[in-house]
Amino acid sequence: MTSPDFIHRFVPAEDATAAPLLLLHGTGGDESDLLGLGRAIAPGAALLSPRGKVMEGAMPRFFRRLAEGVFDEDDVKRRADELADFVAWARSEYGIAAPVAVGFSNGANIAAAVLLRRPDALAGAALLRAMTPLSAPEPVDLRGAPVLMVNGDRDPIIPLADAERLAGLLTRSGARVTRKVLATGHALTREDLEIAADWLRAH
Ligand code: MLT
Repeated sequence: MTSPDFIHRFVPAEDATAAPLLLLHGTGGDESDLLGLGRAIAPGAALLSPRGKVMEGAMPRFFRRLAEGVFDEDDVKRRADELADFVAWARSEYGIAAPVAVGFSNGANIAAAVLLRRPDALAGAALLRAMTPLSAPEPVDLRGAPVLMVNGDRDPIIPLADAERLAGLLTRSGARVTRKVLATGHALTREDLEIAADWLRAH
């Protein structure tokens, strides 16, 4: 398999029993951004952290948007497939199991798109501040896939109704969705990390 051209970091596991994490940063982040978060919520787990390839000015993202909250859905599909191919490559390169995606904001949205298009690429996903990435996805079988969604009730970027739409879509596709709505905005809080760590431990 040839290497897909995602700049990325890989941290090998120190605890072979911990599920590997696929860390997906938000707009303007990079492959180093969520390594600390990954270590905090899943000590000893292998960490695979790519940098989004779409540039919005100087800010890396995982897919193109036309405006805030308005996505170029053709690009979402193409980039989700490309990321799933990267995960397949990384699994064979680094000898890891299917990872659990942990995405923040734009990273959570691409993780949701991978779940909806290439469900076998992931063992589950923690979606921190996600919204619906595809308005009319093809039906998909997510039976049993664990998904955590954590949103903020005063998030100026993500209307709760949109997050609810995604939760409904994933649930109807068979995913085991755990939802939390925090009294907070778009930025991550300590509570997000505690919730994600507890959820990962339980799966
Ligand atoms: C997105 O574009 O994916 C969402 O609006 C979140 C963001 O990255 O600002």
